[in-house]
Amino acid sequence: MSQSENWWNEFFDTFRPFFGVVDAKTTRAEARYLIKKLKLGPRKSFLDLACGIGRLSIPVARSGARVTGVDIMSSFLEELDRKARRGKLRIETIQSDMRRINFRNHFDSAANMWTSFGYFERESDNQLVLRKVYQSLKPGGRFLLHTINRDWVIKNFARTGWFSVGATKVLEERSFDFSTSISRSVWTFIRDGEEKSHRVAIRMYSLHELIAMLEKAGFREIEGFGSLKDEPVSSHSRMMYIFGRKQKTDGKSRKPVSFRG
Ligand SMILES: C[S@@+](CC[C@H](N)C(=O)[O-])C[C@H]1O[C@@H](n2cnc3c(N)ncnc32)[C@H](O)[C@@H]1O
Repeated sequence: MSQSENWWNEFFDTFRPFFGVVDAKTTRAEARYLIKKLKLGPRKSFLDLACGIGRLSIPVARSGARVTGVDIMSSFLEELDRKARRGKLRIETIQSDMRRINFRNHFDSAANMWTSFGYFERESDNQLVLRKVYQSLKPGGRFLLHTINRDWVIKNFARTGWFSVGATKVLEERSFDFSTSISRSVWTFIRDGEEKSHRVAIRMYSLHELIAMLEKAGFREIEGFGSLKDEPVSSHSRMMYIFGRKQKTDGKSRKPVSFRG
């Protein structure tokens, strides 16, 4: 079984067919939301951080925006490059760990979608990702963090879960460490009688923690919603959509911290 440190490398390789668990209708709705809320379109630049196979990079690029997709998995980026070429879309791909990106005042907006956050055991590393996004944005640029809501996870906690895509079944055996809010699970992929198991460890966050982390990274005008209809976050919201804006003036004349949701 693969170990939980740097678990993502092997896990996402096996996970590839499971991008299919998000149906096309949901992806279309998320893409429309991104385009509308981040005001994407022609002449806009957009960073899709942990872009995977470009589930959202592709519809955003179709809006006319210049998309940069960053991911750790070169096989995902190769697949995205092929699709972009076929669709004549402007998508640049960069293989990088999300902690190591090094853009400065470069993008009009950025997003990290579908719980691609909280992957690092050291809290300072998760915080670093937000700081790196902040540095990547132009002043006034907006960021969307779309991730699972810890409070929903606790309320609906189930030790095991089964789901499947095509001929592959997955058993997820979960435990939750209340001292760190890290969800540790073993995912066993079963196909044609063969089993492959991976350990996964994700730090889960409540809304108030992410607001504090975004503020610490420098973001202001923070908003958080519990659905694509901009409903408030509650323990009934499985996912959260949290926005922050890079200040127009860095440093001295900081806007007061505010939250809307
Ligand atoms: C759940 S998928 C989400 C993909 C995409 N955002 C979407 O909505 O379809 C998480 C992605 O994070 C990427 N990833 C995992 N660890 C990473 C890291 N340390 N740095 C950059 N990307 C990483 C994985 O390769 C995978 O593509």
